[in-house]
Amino acid sequence: MPKLKIAPSILASDFGRLGEEIETCIDAGADWIHVDVMDGHFTSNITIGPPVVASLRKYSTVPLDVHLMITDPDEYVADFANAGADLISFHVEAVKHPLRTIEKIRDLGCQVGIVLNPATPEDAIEYLAEHVDLALVMTVNPGFGGQAFIPDMLRKIRSVRAMMGDKDVEVDGGIDATTARDAIEAGANVLVAGSYIFGHDSYLEAIDTLKALGE
Ligand code: DX5
Ligand code: ZN
Repeated sequence: MPKLKIAPSILASDFGRLGEEIETCIDAGADWIHVDVMDGHFTSNITIGPPVVASLRKYSTVPLDVHLMITDPDEYVADFANAGADLISFHVEAVKHPLRTIEKIRDLGCQVGIVLNPATPEDAIEYLAEHVDLALVMTVNPGFGGQAFIPDMLRKIRSVRAMMGDKDVEVDGGIDATTARDAIEAGANVLVAGSYIFGHDSYLEAIDTLKALGE
């Protein structure tokens, strides 16, 4: 299995001090910064767009992992790539021709991730796995931080790990020290965590706890 990576989700951070917040996470050992983009259509919530990613780029010395929860990724991937995204993930449910979207993101010079909602079976990415760098198994329904991990997703993580071989399998939603252990055991190696990390007084302690699960 590839190396365990911790990707704090800035959704749970203090947006008024975003630069400081990500610097603290990076000093604490964050491997990636996870950026949740919501458009009010794919999800009911609205979060951030390319200008914020461009600002984050100036503060981040680690890759920006941009998770698009939007209905029309094809329309916006260039803006996120130009803003400085390193990896762009989109939902398989959002596009008609995922292989074209994958190619478009690659042509922009970014790594590509494909995302599955909790209700979407792993078969949806069977013919995409070999074309992407990462598969993201949503362990909550997208839209908000602080929701409970859906245990049934462990089964999906196992199947997706089998499809992805040595590539990254990311989990997102309801990750804490307990659910992270189960997700790693099932085959996940990239842990997105929002409330768990930003809810701790010490981000260092929270990130260390998650990292220790990979040892
Ligand atoms: C949910 C987002 C997640 C969210 C996770 O739609 O994709 O990245 O921030 O938050 P927690 O870790 O609080 O469940
Ligand atoms: Zn996310």
